[in-house]
Amino acid sequence: MPSSPNRIENTSPGTSFGLFWRRWISDPKGIGAVAPSSPGLTRRMAREVVLRAGEVVVELGPGTGTVTQALIKAGIPEDRLILVELDPEMHAFLVGKFPKALVLQGNAAELDEILPPRWRGRVSAVVSSLPLLSIPMDVRRRIADAVFQVLAPKGHLIQFTYSPFSPLRNAVPDLKSERTGFAAFNLPPATIWRYTTGGDGGKARPRPAAS
Ligand SMILES: C[S@@+](CC[C@H](N)C(=O)[O-])C[C@H]1O[C@@H](n2cnc3c(N)ncnc32)[C@H](O)[C@@H]1O
Repeated sequence: MPSSPNRIENTSPGTSFGLFWRRWISDPKGIGAVAPSSPGLTRRMAREVVLRAGEVVVELGPGTGTVTQALIKAGIPEDRLILVELDPEMHAFLVGKFPKALVLQGNAAELDEILPPRWRGRVSAVVSSLPLLSIPMDVRRRIADAVFQVLAPKGHLIQFTYSPFSPLRNAVPDLKSERTGFAAFNLPPATIWRYTTGGDGGKARPRPAAS
C-alpha cells in the first residue's frame, strides 16, 4: 500500500542515519552537526525537562528525533510534544516516527506565530538542537524572543552547543544562563545550557521588529 507523503514507515536507526547524512550533504550549515546527537547528550538534555500539568514541551530542530526519543524515554508523553523542524524531509520523517506528537514544519524564529494559540504561555520547556553557531546573532535573538514569548512563567530553554561559550550571550538582556551538562563523547563534545528570564515567560518584553 503506498504511504501518504507525511508518513514514512521505515523508521529504523539506519534510516535515521541515512537521512541525516543526506540532508547534511545537501545543507551542512543548516543541519549544523556532523553526526546525530549521541545518547549521552540526548539523555542529559532530557533530564533537564520537567513537564507540568496542562502544559507541553516544545522541541526545536529535532532532526532525526534523537532528543525526541530521549524525552519520551524520560517520561514525557509523545502526545505532549510539539516538534518544530525547518527541513521538509526531516519533517516528513518525524511525522512518521512520532505519530502522536504535533510535528510542525516551520522556522523556530517564528515559534510564537506557528505554535497553536492554546499552548502559548503553557510550554514547560523548549529543548533546542538548533545550530545556533551557524545562525546570525539577530536571528538568534528572534529565536530567543519567540521562545520566551511562549514559555510558561516557570519555563526554561535547554540548548546544546559545540562552543565553550553560551551561544545566546548578549542575545537577550535579562537572560539567566546556566551550564548544566557536558557530553564529552558526543561528536563533537557538547555543552548544555539552561536559560531563564525574569519569570514572566518573556511576555512583558516587546517583540523586536523583523530584520
Ligand atoms: C544539529 S541538527 C539536529 C540534531 C538532532 N538532535 C539529531 O540527532 O538528528 C539541527 C536541526 O535543526 C534544524 N533547523 C535548522 N534551523 C532551523 C530553524 N530555523 N527552525 C527549525 N529547525 C531548524 C535542521 O534542519 C536540523 O534538523
